[in-house]
Amino acid sequence: MIDEDSSGGSEPPPGVIFQDPDQCLPAAELTDYRLIAARLRKALAKSEALLLQKDELIRRLELLKAESDHRLLNDLQMTISLLSLQSRNSINSEAASQLSAAASRVSMIARIHHRLHSYDGVRTIEFKKFIQDFGLEFSAMSSSDASTGRVSVEGSQIDLPAVTAIPLGFIANELITNAAKYGKGRIAIRLEPDPKHRYALSISNDGPALPEGFDPGESKGLGMKIVRSFTDQIGGELRIERGADGQGARFTVLFPAPVIQPLSPTATTS
Ligand SMILES: Nc1ncnc2c1ncn2[C@@H]1O[C@H](COP(=O)(O)OP(=O)(O)OP(=O)(O)O)[C@@H](O)[C@H]1O
Ligand SMILES: [Mg+2]
Repeated sequence: MIDEDSSGGSEPPPGVIFQDPDQCLPAAELTDYRLIAARLRKALAKSEALLLQKDELIRRLELLKAESDHRLLNDLQMTISLLSLQSRNSINSEAASQLSAAASRVSMIARIHHRLHSYDGVRTIEFKKFIQDFGLEFSAMSSSDASTGRVSVEGSQIDLPAVTAIPLGFIANELITNAAKYGKGRIAIRLEPDPKHRYALSISNDGPALPEGFDPGESKGLGMKIVRSFTDQIGGELRIERGADGQGARFTVLFPAPVIQPLSPTATTS
């Protein structure tokens, strides 16, 4: 506390740093004091201007990012359209199917990019929801027969980091495409916690039994190569078997991933 009675030129008590300088400082120190005060005001104004500049730069960067995301999605969309068009125009059925597979693979890149960048700062994907949306689109595109290609998604809602969700999206794309191509009837997808590996994603189909001694390493196609390579990338393990009735096929990817949110077991069919 400043002793009001002692103002008017006397020394301020120790620890008190503010007192009217015009009244308590000698003329020479008063000049220094005013110089320092002016410099501080200038520095403060400069800092405020720099902060405004920084905010403006952040705003512009966000605009640029949104713009480049938008352009990338447009370009991917155009690539998908061109591949699909070329597939439809191809007179060679093998070439047509390869072009259509390429369109579907690029479409998976676009879908994941869109999912990851639709919300600012989001670095995880709600994988069950993602697969449900994909399943709906896949069913709508794949067949006119109501029972064939119908995709059902069951299991837990799990948030996966992009580093796991992106490769897993490609794996799911290949396995669902194969299930529709080589199986018959419904395709069942299950995503659930696994006691040993943490998570399990399985894709099963009815129809002809998977050949005895099926070895994915011997496949000439690209699909199983993509599945095996991305399964390794996420530190997972691929299990291949027939369905419970000895018919059809079931491909299960067992994989680890950091837990992002508590799991809530639900079951939905799309
Ligand atoms: N769900 C399934 N049921 C029965 N056989 C399957 C199934 N999935 C894969 N296969 C067998 O495995 C082989 C390899 O599959 P892969 O996906 O690698 O190649 P592809 O589907 O023939 O070609 P691509 O994926 O390059 O378009 C297939 O040709 C098929 O014989
Ligand atoms: Mg395939």
